[in-house]
Amino acid sequence: MSDKIIIFDTTLRDGEQSPGATMNQREKVRMARQLDALGVDVIEAGFPAASQGDFEAVQAIAAAAPNCQIAGLCRAIPADIDRAWEAVKGAKHPRIHTFLATSPLHMEHKLRMSPDKVLEMAVAAVKRAASYTANVEFSAEDASRSERGFLAKVFSAVIKAGATTVNVPDTVGYAQPGEFGELIAWLLEHVEDSHKAVFSVHCHNDLGLGVANTLAALKAGARQAEVTVSGIGERAGNASLEELVMNLYTRQSYYDLDCGVRTEQLFPTCRLLSMIIGQPIPPYKAITGANAFAHESGIHQDGVLKDRRTYEIMTPESVGRTETELVLGKHSGRHALGKKLESLNYRLDEKQVAVVFEAVKELADKKAKVYDEDLEALVLEKVYKMDDCYRLKSLSVLCGDHGVPPTAAVVMNVCALEEGAREVKQAAFGNGPVDAIFNAVNAIVGRTPVLKRYSVNAITGGSDAQGEVTVRIEDKGLSSVGRGSHPDIVFASALAYLTALNRLVRKEEEGA
Ligand code: KIV
Ligand code: ZN
Repeated sequence: MSDKIIIFDTTLRDGEQSPGATMNQREKVRMARQLDALGVDVIEAGFPAASQGDFEAVQAIAAAAPNCQIAGLCRAIPADIDRAWEAVKGAKHPRIHTFLATSPLHMEHKLRMSPDKVLEMAVAAVKRAASYTANVEFSAEDASRSERGFLAKVFSAVIKAGATTVNVPDTVGYAQPGEFGELIAWLLEHVEDSHKAVFSVHCHNDLGLGVANTLAALKAGARQAEVTVSGIGERAGNASLEELVMNLYTRQSYYDLDCGVRTEQLFPTCRLLSMIIGQPIPPYKAITGANAFAHESGIHQDGVLKDRRTYEIMTPESVGRTETELVLGKHSGRHALGKKLESLNYRLDEKQVAVVFEAVKELADKKAKVYDEDLEALVLEKVYKMDDCYRLKSLSVLCGDHGVPPTAAVVMNVCALEEGAREVKQAAFGNGPVDAIFNAVNAIVGRTPVLKRYSVNAITGGSDAQGEVTVRIEDKGLSSVGRGSHPDIVFASALAYLTALNRLVRKEEEGA
């Protein structure tokens, strides 16, 4: 029988540290439900000691994903460990994940601690965590640049202290596959009682080797892989969940390893993340990119028509890429919509379904076919958004060759949350329609953030597709991302800009 690999997803912790990938609590909970449906074994839900927001999000995720273990990350210090436990203890299967750096560089220059002190702290941290739960993970940060002998000593000691998982992070993405696999094999041989703990790896992608290094480690005997959806994460990101899983699945006979992931949920999961963080999946991205299963050259097309296996090593269906035309149109009933939402893993109450129903009807007036992707965009926009300070009421734009510069007139509710929200109107010129809208909004909100990124993407095919606009803005050292979708891309731009502004306001309030 093949060994089973534990899939540890850290999208909501390491992934969320990626620039522009911040999620609000409702979005994190939605993502956690999808990860649960995907079949990952462990969800690292956050870093509870980092902020009150993180703490509450971990608690909420713990309640939302009943089939997964829920891990909370903490430094190897008592206050952090206690806080992590408080956050995860409500989960059915809680895990405390504590970490401390073990490389000479980190110990000397970052921690300013001797190796003996690091060893002592690691053991004390694991003992404290083990006093709360038998499910304790210890990570030796920057393990791939640590001295092997010391690493083995630390792992031997923490296993004795109660760690049930020991993680070998390639924190800076420095390792090479052969070397990393060899390190795992060496550790399994030299760590005392290595059979008493699961050996895990956590690979960053700075040299583009995150997945390759993870696979080499699994081949050498590691049995937990720490990954993120679409590979999001610090700097160049982490090993990508979908690529790792499809390697194991497509090359089963080579790896002889199994995992519990439902591969047909991979594409929906990546798409959901992309919608939540407002970052489109690049067309050339393995497994999930628009081109990943497209055959352009004549020779390839000919081969595929004769037998798909000539140029296709996996089917689009196996990763959940199917035509998802929704049979709901403007004449469909609320009950059918409720059923459809359930099949997409949304658990909404009647009031929320009613809100989405109205939005679907409105969209169906503008667009002939409504797809699952459209529905997901509507749910995220109408249900999962936090209460906003700024809301768009109406918009009119004049552009083209009228002898006047592009002009936008915007009507907005300001401080929509408070009693007596003000309705404000403003018109402005710009270089183009989008610039004119942003200028009008800036005049209303009294700030001029720098627009760092603006992108438009069609959510589905067809010229009547909804446009999905993503913007990234920066003001006074803080940045935020917003996305908006609408059949009219100019309108979508206004929605995206307001979402980014609302997030910026929230960040300022939270003191982030
Ligand atoms: O990259 C890293 O070393 C980490 C640890 C906290 C596991 O994210
Ligand atoms: Zn990491």
